[in-house]
Amino acid sequence: MGLRVGVVGTRGIGQRHAECHAANELADLVAVCDVIKARVEPVAKKHGVPAYASLKEMLANEDLDIVDVCTGGPENGGWHYEPVMEAIDAGKHVLVEKPISNDIEEAREMVAYAQEKDVYLGCNLNHYFTEPARLARQYMEEGKVGEILYCLHRMGFVGGAATYSPGGGPNAKGFPYFHVKAFLAHPFSIMRYFCGDITHVQAFMNRPSYRVAAGDPMVSINSIHVRFESGAVGYLFSQRGDATMGLGGWWSVEVGGTRGSFCVENCVEKCTFFPAPGTEGAADPGKLGLGQAPPPVVHSTGVTDFGTTFPNRIHAYLEDVTNKVPRHRIRSSGRDALATLEYTFAAIESYESGGELVRPAALPTLRHDPRLQ
Ligand SMILES: NC(=O)c1ccc[n+]([C@@H]2O[C@H](COP(=O)([O-])OP(=O)(O)OC[C@H]3O[C@@H](n4cnc5c(N)ncnc54)[C@H](O)[C@@H]3O)[C@@H](O)[C@H]2O)c1
Repeated sequence: MGLRVGVVGTRGIGQRHAECHAANELADLVAVCDVIKARVEPVAKKHGVPAYASLKEMLANEDLDIVDVCTGGPENGGWHYEPVMEAIDAGKHVLVEKPISNDIEEAREMVAYAQEKDVYLGCNLNHYFTEPARLARQYMEEGKVGEILYCLHRMGFVGGAATYSPGGGPNAKGFPYFHVKAFLAHPFSIMRYFCGDITHVQAFMNRPSYRVAAGDPMVSINSIHVRFESGAVGYLFSQRGDATMGLGGWWSVEVGGTRGSFCVENCVEKCTFFPAPGTEGAADPGKLGLGQAPPPVVHSTGVTDFGTTFPNRIHAYLEDVTNKVPRHRIRSSGRDALATLEYTFAAIESYESGGELVRPAALPTLRHDPRLQ
């Protein structure tokens, strides 16, 4: 028997999560809930599980191990706090969609409460649960990248003026930082996954004129300059469908080190390694002309579907809970998600102050459980 899972919020993403749990041997999808009956009933019927109108009702009737929170809300995170806190209060492990919240105080409280109640709080920072990211980390662990010097990350949906339709829903309307809060969790999670904590942030933001004409003030073009705790430097360009990005597609990251660099393209598709001249197996610097580099090692996965990141990430969470990993070792934790929100709030503060340098608030101490190494 697998871990008993109940999903909260059964619109687009909740349905996807429900399918992942139903198909995973480590989980038993036992119930679903949504405040809107017409949304929850077809999902319950499809999976042959009971439908509930609230988390309270679901908790009262089901013996759950995990509550998977897939609500959205303002800036795609405004409805996470209440169900997450309610589930933690009931002693359940929680997986929550990103951003962990649209409110930094609420996010800090969620992480602190999960620690206090000793439950696994995970977040669906799914973009690095991929084959290219696994390979890239392997290059790092094998010492092939060396000391990390820089990180360049670009992430944004394909678009342009012709594809724009004003976001009129409750998530976006009246929230100029909708894109910033809803989306930056992903690129910041990637930069931190490869390069560690960020200590300095400077941001410039903008929006194309057609958003202004449509009365939507969303600051959807974000140019963010960072410094990592290690001393490495980084740059993030993010945009929400305002232009069509060329090199590296909609998603690319390049991490450069003293022994080699890697690039991941289109998230799931490709990882390329560029060895530094003179490293093992690579051409001698003396045999290369100015600016020339040894040939890269290209690995194309054959995967083009970004959707594969969902079952991968959900499987990792189920695996961590099943294996009872030490709380501080859970992958893509609530604390990891809080880090991305601290950086996001630092970027907003920098933008609002005309591009001043901002130091994101420190993360809560990562407490190691002495009983579990
Ligand atoms: N990780 C990813 O790649 C990815 C991609 C897209 C969206 N998301 C995230 O997934 C989340 C959900 O997205 P969506 O587009 O499905 O949202 P949505 O707003 O369309 O649906 C959320 C559902 O939750 C229900 N709901 C809200 N509060 C509730 C509560 N307290 N109890 C029960 N039901 C409640 C709503 O009625 C709605 O049906 C968002 O946080 C979004 O940021 C993640």
